[in-house]
Formats: sequence, C-alpha cells, structure tokens
Amino acid sequence: MTGGLELRALGKRFGGVVAADDVNMSVPPGRITGLIGPNGAGKTTIVNLVTGMLSVSSGSILFDGRDITHAPAHAIARAGLARTFQNIRLMPEASILDNVMVGFHRHETSGLLAALLRLPAAARETRAMRDRAMALIGRFGLAALADHPAGGLSYGHQRRVEIMRALATDPRLILLDEPVAGMNDVESAEMAEVIRGLAAEGRAILLIEHDMRFVTGLCAHVYALDGGRLIAEGSARAVLSDPVVIEAYLGSPLDA
Ligand SMILES: Nc1ncnc2c1ncn2[C@@H]1O[C@H](COP(=O)(O)OP(=O)(O)OP(=O)(O)O)[C@@H](O)[C@H]1O
Ligand SMILES: [Mg+2]
Repeated sequence: MTGGLELRALGKRFGGVVAADDVNMSVPPGRITGLIGPNGAGKTTIVNLVTGMLSVSSGSILFDGRDITHAPAHAIARAGLARTFQNIRLMPEASILDNVMVGFHRHETSGLLAALLRLPAAARETRAMRDRAMALIGRFGLAALADHPAGGLSYGHQRRVEIMRALATDPRLILLDEPVAGMNDVESAEMAEVIRGLAAEGRAILLIEHDMRFVTGLCAHVYALDGGRLIAEGSARAVLSDPVVIEAYLGSPLDA
C-alpha cells in the first residue's frame, strides 16, 4: 500500500502562540511512527493541520507525493487520510453499527441526505455499507454488540468503535491521537494488536501517545516535540534516552 506522509518545515501560529515551528516528519506506509511530547507541545495541532481542520501558517504537507497543504478536509479524507480524536467523539445513543456507518458518509456517492430520505439508489448503497460495517465490527470482535448503543460500551470498546469508524473509508494513513489514554492494561494490549495489524496491512500510522511503554513496543521511529519544535527523532530507545527529551518531557529516564 502506498500513502506516505511528509511534513516539510510545517508551521502554525495561533496569535502569539507558535504551536508548530519548522516541523519536518516522515510517516511511511506499513510502519507505526510515534509522536511524543509534553502537554501543549503541538501534537494534536499537527493532526489538525494534516487533516485540514486547521489552516497551515507555513511549510507544506505531502501525501503520497501530492501537495495537500491547502486542500479542504473532505478532499484530504477522500485522498485516504483518517484520524481518531483525543477525546472520544461517538454518538452515544446510536448503535455501534450506526457509529461506524457514519464513517462511510464521507465517501459514498448518493449522499447522506439521499440516505436519510431513503431513496432507492441510496438504499442499495446503504445495504452495501451496512455489510462492510458489519465485516469491520466482526473483525474487531464486537459483532454481538453491533446493535448496542455506543455510549454503554466500556471505554476500551468505545475507542475500538472510533478506530472502526476511521477505517470505514479504508484509509491509507491513520492518525491516532492518544488511542489508549485511560485504558486498562488488557484493553491497551488489545489495542496494540489492532494497531500492529493496521500497519501490517500496509497502512501508514502516526501514533500520538503519552504511554512510553506502548510507544516503545509499537513504534519503528519516534519524533519528540516540545513547544512546537522537534527536539529529537530516531528509534524509540534512542529518543527516550535522549537527555533533551528526558529534560523536556520524561522527567526521569524510562526504566527498562
Ligand atoms: N484552536 C486553537 N486556538 C488557539 N490555540 C490553540 C488551538 N489549538 C491548540 N492551541 C495551542 O497550541 C498549543 C499546542 O496544543 P496541542 O493541543 O496541539 O498540544 P498537544 O501536544 O496535543 O497537547 P496534549 O498532550 O495536552 O494533548 C497549545 O499552546 C494550545 O493551547
Ligand atoms: Mg493533544
């Protein structure tokens, strides 16, 4: 699968706050790339810039070799990029199935309105999407719960539904913003397997996470950000033992 991401001298200012400053990064397909840094470092800002939710102040963003720096969010989604949110954003009263199907409506042709009006072409498309959504839900081990309201699920399962929704469009790049925050060890281990599987399928993964053991276990390459600037990059082991990263972020070296 193709679909690597390149950030070139990316910059973002919010008034006087520099949230991204001369950021150069590569997120290649088939690998999990880590992005770490203290609160307010600018990690989520990078996801928002890449997905077109924020406008870029300077620099450029390339996906699969194409310049998407100023492309609108819907075009970026269509090109094969998807994200999850740091704070879970599901429709709590809707079923798992409906939550996952929302992910399709960025791509389908007859439109959400037609689907709501239950026009015949839209009904056919909706059935096909339903089958695909059920296949995805089955793959994530939640088939028995497909009709349950998402809000009643455990935290770990809600995070899974978020990832399924992001996967509905079969993206080539997935940006995961703290996917295991608040999870217990079992949920987090299950999520690690899910993320490994996505990379094994050839997708490019950018993983933002504060759990350094999780990052070390998954990431081929790690970038460390502080105050909007990259302060280190390299293997997880090298970055996490870098004195600059320890000083800015970790406080003390990660004991093996
Ligand atoms: N929409 C916005 N308007 C103004 N300032 C913003 C906006 N989004 C982010 N910022 C500021 O940009 C900086 C980076 O924020 P960002 O959310 O990207 O950090 P983060 O690394 O994701 O932190 P955390 O680990 O807490 O999620 C912060 O100073 C934040 O207050
Ligand atoms: Mg964030």
